[in-house]
Amino acid sequence: DWTMAEFRAAKIAEIRAQVGQGRVICGLSGGVDSAVAAVLIHEAIGAQLTCVFVDHGLMRTAEAEQVVTLFRNHYNIPLVHVDAEETFLTGLAGVTDPEAKRKFIGGAFIDIFEAEAKKVGGADFLAQGTLYPDVIESVSFTGGPSVTIKSHHNVGGLPARMNMQLVEPLRELFKDEVRILGRELGLTEAFVGRHPFPGPGLAIRIPGEVTKERCDILRKADAIYLEEIRAAGLYDTIWQAFAVLLPVRSVGVMGDGRTYDNVLALRAVTSTDGMTAEAFQFPGDFLPRVATRIVNEVKGINRVTYDYTSKPPGTIEWE
Ligand code: XMP
Repeated sequence: DWTMAEFRAAKIAEIRAQVGQGRVICGLSGGVDSAVAAVLIHEAIGAQLTCVFVDHGLMRTAEAEQVVTLFRNHYNIPLVHVDAEETFLTGLAGVTDPEAKRKFIGGAFIDIFEAEAKKVGGADFLAQGTLYPDVIESVSFTGGPSVTIKSHHNVGGLPARMNMQLVEPLRELFKDEVRILGRELGLTEAFVGRHPFPGPGLAIRIPGEVTKERCDILRKADAIYLEEIRAAGLYDTIWQAFAVLLPVRSVGVMGDGRTYDNVLALRAVTSTDGMTAEAFQFPGDFLPRVATRIVNEVKGINRVTYDYTSKPPGTIEWE
């Protein structure tokens, strides 16, 4: 695509002009956006870039290994892997408000980036894969009064004390354009086609308090759901699919015993830019099969529901 080739060349020139001889830290989330930003910036400034993958313990099953392997082995871009599960889970203890979760997580990310910046002798810039819809939705809702719907931590949640300048080469792009740019930069189809995953990770898919135990329950259920979606050949027709562990317990029966366990909600939506979305309509036998598997295989869940809400008035994530 020649327009994307032009965009790529223009951005590379722009990044070089902005950064000069400075050092850049790029936070990788495991998602497409930050990966594309990293590869683009690496092309522009090479070894002046240090990529940092912060494993906050709020990733899905096997996700952290996949990201590290992809960057180190496939793209040969140096990557610092920070295991910060304890920091995040300790800081999230007792936090139940969605924006308070984002605020803490955004701040903890910055602390880690600043610590890593020091290790490379000081970095003047922080790069992020911020997209146009992130900017719009974090700043205000178009047309109406200025109301923050969710402060995506890579936009609104940056603390004022941060002393690095931002490099955000994807700020004008929508998701479909980032995917085109990713292909243009040679990212594999499996990576370019990944569903979006929010920076705060599973923390915003566990309404109420986030604990390691609840993360583990959610990871197991989410892995079964995604495995079935892939097996049914539906992954690429869905914008985003995930499970949400609700802070509700329900009564059930297992064998001849009573159970009193967690309720799980499944979500799958179609969308073109994440700003509006429709619930995905699964073929008839799909959801009952997934519900049965999850209740049988995941200890701690005894009921599964499906979320049919569109955006608006709902949002894609529950928090
Ligand atoms: P919502 O829930 O606002 O989500 O309809 C729209 C898209 O944004 C993702 N999302 C986030 N991404 N930090 C992120 O990096 C966040 O705090 C955040 N909140 C929502 C969501 O997964 C969906 O793709």
